[in-house]
Amino acid sequence: MSAQSMSARSSSNQLPSSALSAAPHAAVKDPPVPRRWTAADIPDQSGRTFIVTGANSGLGFQTVLELARHGAHVVMTARDENKGRAAKARIDAERIGGTLELRKLDLADLDDVKRFAAAIVADGLPVDVLVNNAGVMMPPRGLTRQGHEQQFGVNHLAHFVLTALLIERLAQSSDGRVVTVSSDLHKRGKIHFDDIAGAHDYGRMSFYAQSKFANVLFALELDRRLKAAGLPVKSLLAHPGYSATNLQLSGPTGILKLFMRIGNRFMAQDVAMGALNQLYAATAPRAESGQFIGPDGKNEKRGYPSLVQPIAAARDVELAKNLWQLSETLTGIDFELGKRARS
Ligand SMILES: NC(=O)c1ccc[n+]([C@@H]2O[C@H](COP(=O)([O-])OP(=O)(O)OC[C@H]3O[C@@H](n4cnc5c(N)ncnc54)[C@H](OP(=O)(O)O)[C@@H]3O)[C@@H](O)[C@H]2O)c1
Repeated sequence: MSAQSMSARSSSNQLPSSALSAAPHAAVKDPPVPRRWTAADIPDQSGRTFIVTGANSGLGFQTVLELARHGAHVVMTARDENKGRAAKARIDAERIGGTLELRKLDLADLDDVKRFAAAIVADGLPVDVLVNNAGVMMPPRGLTRQGHEQQFGVNHLAHFVLTALLIERLAQSSDGRVVTVSSDLHKRGKIHFDDIAGAHDYGRMSFYAQSKFANVLFALELDRRLKAAGLPVKSLLAHPGYSATNLQLSGPTGILKLFMRIGNRFMAQDVAMGALNQLYAATAPRAESGQFIGPDGKNEKRGYPSLVQPIAAARDVELAKNLWQLSETLTGIDFELGKRARS
């Protein structure tokens, strides 16, 4: 249940409706997220630079489109340069206000992540918002170039490294943000510390859920560490509910893929609605660090952006620290915010 609907329910439990209607206007609190927020509510983004991973398809593509419509400069990243070029051409053809540049980034190769981040820094590009969007769902077991299980490696480890290498750049922005795209399936996740690569017991769904749970643990721990280090960067989470994209068709195979195809046709919401959640997190002036934005409909599957809650385990500080440490060990990246803030 969203905090929004929780607060509505608790207030109606406490007061008779006559008292509510007699309550002074000043006593009515604004909901944490404005109701029925749409892309038309995105403020002008001129002068702001965004990096969106997985920008050639689905939610990433839609995010770039709306950001560009509102005047932003967007670095579109794609692992396949041909797909990236085709996606950029589709947005360029609309001749909308913002500017785009395309950069290759393969998140299944941490050397490529390091190369990409180093080039952003070397080119002197400002970075106001990093949208950790790219993802892969439920493929047969596969490994990244460095030998990590593919879903954990692409969805979590690569974004952990990318964020670490760009955090100082983000801290130079007057409104720096990291938006990490998770899923309501994080609720089924646990971190398999004893078999993180799924060498002994890989499950397509359980390892997808692990990666999306890792996204939530990471973003909330990042929020805590940013605040502790006094760095002016926000860390937010978003999830799109169930949105019809390539995600359901590129990872799953066989009968699973057939079910996904039917689900996309009859149950999913369109990508424009799904992307509103990450667009709100990336642009809304009222969005706060540590918030999780997801659809306001039943079971968070569809609807307008609202404040949603991660499962309790995702707020486990010890677990988050252990994942952070494991991520540093697996990637060889020292993501020490306090040290960075002091140096
Ligand atoms: N759609 C939903 O219902 C849903 C629900 C919950 C969460 N999400 C999350 O939303 C995010 C975006 O997914 P989507 O639904 O928009 O799916 P999508 O249309 O398949 O887009 C995923 C993007 O990630 C890219 N990608 C995959 N592996 C990559 C790699 N190794 N390196 C770089 N980029 C890579 C894809 O590139 P290619 O085109 O080259 O494959 C594509 O651009 C994901 O994090 C997903 O977990 C989606």
